[in-house]
Amino acid sequence: MCGIVGYIGPRRVVPVLLEGLRRLEYRGYDSAGVVYLENGELTKYRCQGKLFNLETLIDDAIVAPSHIGLGHTRWATHGAPTTANAHPHSDCTGRLVVVHNGIIENYHSLREELKAKGHRFSSETDTEVLAHLIEDCLEDDLPTAVRTALPRVEGSYALGVLWANQPDQLVAARNQSPLVLGISAEEGSFLASDIPALLPFTNQVVFLEDMEMAVLTSGGRDIYSLTTGEPVTRLPQTILWNAAMAEKAGFKHFMLKEIFEQPQAITNTVSGRVNPETGEVSLAEINLSAQECRNIDRIFLVACGTSWHAALVAKYWIERHAKIPVEVDIASEFRYRHLLIDERVLTITISQSGETADTLAGMRIARKMGSKAITICNVVGSTMTREADGTVYTHAGPEIGVASTKAFTSQLAALFLFTIFLGRHRGTIDLAKQQELAQALIGIPAIIEHHLPKIQEQVGALIEGYYDCRDFLFVGRGLSYPIALEGALKLKEISYIHAEGYASGELKHGPIALIDKEMPIVAMVPQDKVYHKTISNIEEIKARQGRLILIGSEGDSHLLTITDDVVWLPKIHEDMNPILYTIPAQLLAYEIATRRGCDVDQPRNLAKSVTVE
Ligand code: F6R
Repeated sequence: MCGIVGYIGPRRVVPVLLEGLRRLEYRGYDSAGVVYLENGELTKYRCQGKLFNLETLIDDAIVAPSHIGLGHTRWATHGAPTTANAHPHSDCTGRLVVVHNGIIENYHSLREELKAKGHRFSSETDTEVLAHLIEDCLEDDLPTAVRTALPRVEGSYALGVLWANQPDQLVAARNQSPLVLGISAEEGSFLASDIPALLPFTNQVVFLEDMEMAVLTSGGRDIYSLTTGEPVTRLPQTILWNAAMAEKAGFKHFMLKEIFEQPQAITNTVSGRVNPETGEVSLAEINLSAQECRNIDRIFLVACGTSWHAALVAKYWIERHAKIPVEVDIASEFRYRHLLIDERVLTITISQSGETADTLAGMRIARKMGSKAITICNVVGSTMTREADGTVYTHAGPEIGVASTKAFTSQLAALFLFTIFLGRHRGTIDLAKQQELAQALIGIPAIIEHHLPKIQEQVGALIEGYYDCRDFLFVGRGLSYPIALEGALKLKEISYIHAEGYASGELKHGPIALIDKEMPIVAMVPQDKVYHKTISNIEEIKARQGRLILIGSEGDSHLLTITDDVVWLPKIHEDMNPILYTIPAQLLAYEIATRRGCDVDQPRNLAKSVTVE
C-alpha cells in the first residue's frame, strides 16, 4: 500500500530513489513521483501510471547532483490515480514536501480548518493535508514542526518530509504503517517502507515503532518519541537477505521465479527445526511450553487472502493431529465480530508481510482479550513479529510478485511444523506418527523440485483450449478444498478471469446450475480419504457436460475415462497434498495470464502489502 523512499548521503539521489522505488513497486503502481533538493530549490517529478513513466519523464534529472530527496509509488486511497494526486505533495510555499503511506482519517476536518486559515489545496488526497499542517506549525525547525503537527493527526502514516530551508536533514515518522531506516557510514541514510528498497545499499536497518519520528542526516539518524519528545536509542539489525534475492534472475516474471523457488523456500522453513531421525520439532522462538500446549482449548487462525487459505488447510491438520478445535477467520471479519476469547485460546496470525492492517488489528484484539498470539510471517522485523508473543519465520526470501506463491507454501510448511509440535506436546501423536509426518514434510521440497518442470509442461500444453474462457470453477474436498479456493484466487487476480472455488460436495447446493458445456472446472482429485466422494462429484459435473481439468495421481487411470485434460502428480503422503497440488494451480493461473498478455507481477488494482483497512 504505497511505497516511500528517502535518501540523504554522498550518492546522487535520483538513481537511489528510482532503484528503491523499483524494489517497492509491488506496494502500489497507480502513480509515482520523486523530489530532490539542489541549490536551495526543490524539483519535483510526478506522473500517473507505473514507475516506468516516471523514469522516462526524468531521464535527464538522473544526472542532477542532488544528494537529498524523497520518492513515492502510490496505491490510490483518497483521490483518483492522477498526476495531481501523485506524491510528493507540497505546502503553500512549495518549499516543504511530504510523501506518505497510510490513511489520514480526520483529513476532512483538518483540511477545512487549514483552508479557513488560507491554505490552498491542489489535490484530492488526504496526504496533502499533512504538508499544510506541518507548514502551519513551522517556525524555523522541521523536526519541531513535525512533532507539533502529528499528534493532531488521526489514522495511519509512514511519512518522509523535506524542507528546503533545512537542506541537511530528512524527517521521517510512523504510526501504524511500516517504516524502516537504512544505515551506512559510507553510503548515507535511507528510509523506506520495506527492506528490499534498502538492500542494494545496506543491510543495517532500524525499524521505527508507532509514534516515533527520526531525523536523518548523511552521518546517521536520531530517533524520538512523538508523544514525549524523548530520544530513543535503538541499535541497527543486520538483514540476511541480499539485493540479488529481490531480482528476476533470468525468469520472465517474479511470479515464475518464486514458483520455482518453492523447494528452497520450504527447505528454509523446515531446516534446523526438525530432527530428521526422531522427527522432533523444535520451535523455541514461539515461547510456548509443553504445559501451555496442553492448556490450549481452542485455536483461532486469523489471516487475509492467500494466507487465509493456508489457515484453512491448517485447520484440517491441527484438528486431525493435535485434536484442538480450530476456528479460521478472515481478519477483516474477526476484528469486528463478537469474539469469545480468553487465556485458553491461542491466536495464530498468518501473514507474508507481517503488516496487513486487518490481521495486525486482529492480533492486537486477541492479545488484549488474554490470548497468546503467535505469528507465521516472512518479513523479519515486521510489525506483527514485533508485537506477537512468538514468531515462526518462514524464511522464504523476499516475495516480489504481487500474487503470493512461495510465501503460501512455506506458510503451509510452517503450519505443519507447528501441527507436529503441538501434537507431540499434547500427546495426540506418538513417536512413530511424529516421524512419519516429519519425514513427509522433509521430503516434499525434493518432490516439488523434481516434478516442477513436468507440471509446467503439462499445464502449458492444455491452456490453449481454456485461456480465453470467461469463468472458471475450482473444486476440491477435504485438504484440497482450500487449494481450490487458492487456485481460483490466483487465476482471478492475475488473469482477470472470473473464478470461484468450492468444496466439491457443495456444488449441488447451487453452483451446479452454472455448469454447461462452456464452463471449465478444475478439480483436485488426489487419492486420499475422500477420493471416492470427489469422483462422484466429478461424475455429476461430467453428466452436465462441464469441461473438466483434473489434477490427480499418476497411475489413476480412472481419470482418463472422465477427461483427457489431466495434470498428473506423484502420489505422496496425504497431508502433503495441499502443498503439491498448489503448484499446478499456480502455474495454471500463470500460464493463462501470460497467454492473455496480463501484467502478472503487478495486476491491476492490487498492491502487495495491504496496510490500510
Ligand atoms: C494473493 C495475495 C493476497 C495476500 C493478502 C495477505 O495472491 O497475495 O491475498 O495473501 O493480502 O497478505 P499478507 O500475507 O502479507 O498478510
